[in-house]
Amino acid sequence: MRDLLLLGIETTCDETAAAVVRRRADGSGTILSNIVLSQTADHAPYGGVVPEIASRAHVEVLDRVIERALRSSGVKLVEMDAIAAAAGPGLIGGVIVGLTTAKAIALAARKPLVAVNHLEAHALTARLTDAVPFPFLLLLVSGGHTQLVAVTGVGEYHKLGGTMDDAIGEAFDKTAKMLGLPYPGGPAVERAALRGDASRFALPRPLHGKPVPDFSLSGLKTAVRLEALRIAPLTDQDVNDLCASFQGAIVDILADRVRCALRVMRERGMKPSALVLAGGVGANQAVRRVLHKVAADGGTRLAVPPPELCTDNGAMIAWAGAERFALGLTDDLAVSPRARWPL
Ligand code: KG4
Ligand code: ZN
Repeated sequence: MRDLLLLGIETTCDETAAAVVRRRADGSGTILSNIVLSQTADHAPYGGVVPEIASRAHVEVLDRVIERALRSSGVKLVEMDAIAAAAGPGLIGGVIVGLTTAKAIALAARKPLVAVNHLEAHALTARLTDAVPFPFLLLLVSGGHTQLVAVTGVGEYHKLGGTMDDAIGEAFDKTAKMLGLPYPGGPAVERAALRGDASRFALPRPLHGKPVPDFSLSGLKTAVRLEALRIAPLTDQDVNDLCASFQGAIVDILADRVRCALRVMRERGMKPSALVLAGGVGANQAVRRVLHKVAADGGTRLAVPPPELCTDNGAMIAWAGAERFALGLTDDLAVSPRARWPL
């Protein structure tokens, strides 16, 4: 197998992104360009992503983002082996914009198309940055997803657990909103937590100790709201303490659920080469610290892509496309965009 060059396009949420990646015959990879245009500022006034604003913004900037990704990679379109795009899951308007653009490029340049599952791309990123071999345990924690998945190969995903209500990033965002902190909530809560007392509020750790590694966040979110109402009006220190207590609960929940998932993998005869952390919540330092320890205690190691590859980007789509293309997997131009697409 020779080296592969892929263009990847990502538009499933509020990042318009394109990248060029090289995958070598030995399975290693290099990012040649990675352009991400975040729409955070467009959505901030609404306290969350507005789908209609997102798809319009993707339409407006995607051409230029792709052009920049190509130019700064030094690779010409004719040299590409294939064009990859996230075909879901995500906000359908945005997915249509990215996938249709990829189809048009593939058709015009006579290149194969690879329709990538956005979650699969998160799952495989650690193989680009960290050469993680199969099998591994994936913890995907973003604004839209909270999943523990045993990954045994490209296209081989065994879901061990997921959330019964909110995603963890969503819980961070809702907590921030409730406490008057800016959007996106995760980084704001993390900053406030640094100045807070995590032991001040006794918050619940739902599903703690349960034998299936599922998550439930809504009870925690409600508990934060009730404490905030009880002590209102809130001082800055109250907000910091609530954030620290909330983040402390999240860290405990993650540690317990990941321990459980590692146990389940071992029971099923799989020895994970790593615990891979992916998704925006992976940028949180307290989360990283605890998972580092949980992985080591479980006889494995924590692999975390750098923060800019934990959040949505084009390189992860190009890379997942390259991993699929290397196995001979391509898609017809008739492939449909999908709002929902479980791993
Ligand atoms: O993966 P991502 O960029 O987008 C998707 O949701 O797909 O993740 C964004 C989520 C948001 O909910 C954001 O609040 C959260 O990740 N996040 C964080 C941190 N940075 C981003 N959560 C906790 N701590 C952080 N430092
Ligand atoms: Zn994502």
